[in-house]
Amino acid sequence: MPTGRCRRSARISAALAGLFIALQLVPYGRSHTNPPVTGEPHWDSEATRGTFARACGDCHSNQTRWPWYSQVAPVSWMVQHHVDEGREHLNVSTWSANPGNQSGIPREVTRGEMPLWSYRLAHGDARLDAAAKAAFVAGLQATFAPTAAADAKSERDDD
Ligand code: HEC
Repeated sequence: MPTGRCRRSARISAALAGLFIALQLVPYGRSHTNPPVTGEPHWDSEATRGTFARACGDCHSNQTRWPWYSQVAPVSWMVQHHVDEGREHLNVSTWSANPGNQSGIPREVTRGEMPLWSYRLAHGDARLDAAAKAAFVAGLQATFAPTAAADAKSERDDD
């Protein structure tokens, strides 16, 4: 019967709406803090700094741009988790003296592991084409692994 089906789908919609509202009451996912910036790496160029801010900075700095959907559960839980964990692993806003060879940073980009795929999906400006990616990786190497970058270059020059 059409009326029965209508009533059932209305009940399902009401249940889903109720569930959605209940999710919003979970306290996790709302601590959208941007603590002060206390230091920064010695970027090799403004271009590297800018690309990092655009493609990585939301999770690896204290200058996170919190989008509107980061306020809405359950997406807010994922965003909170990524930012907390991202900052824990690598935070350019609390960078102090140069901590030596950080070749893992360019490597994540070369391998396509970073930025996270879910982030690339939502952020068109974090998707780098091949040329932009190569330039960015070179900049990250010069910034974070200058000796490794120089070694690789002199090897190339020797050929
Ligand atoms: C959406 C959030 C997000 C973005 C954007 C992002 N990362 Fe990450 N990053 C994480 C998380 C979460 C981890 C830790 C878990 C993991 O390794 O997957 C991580 C780990 C890393 C690590 C590993 C650090 C270690 O100690 O092993 C490096 C290096 C890194 N990211 C570099 C980058 C670079 C470079 C970019 C930009 C091209 C970037 N990330 C963009 C969230 C992000």
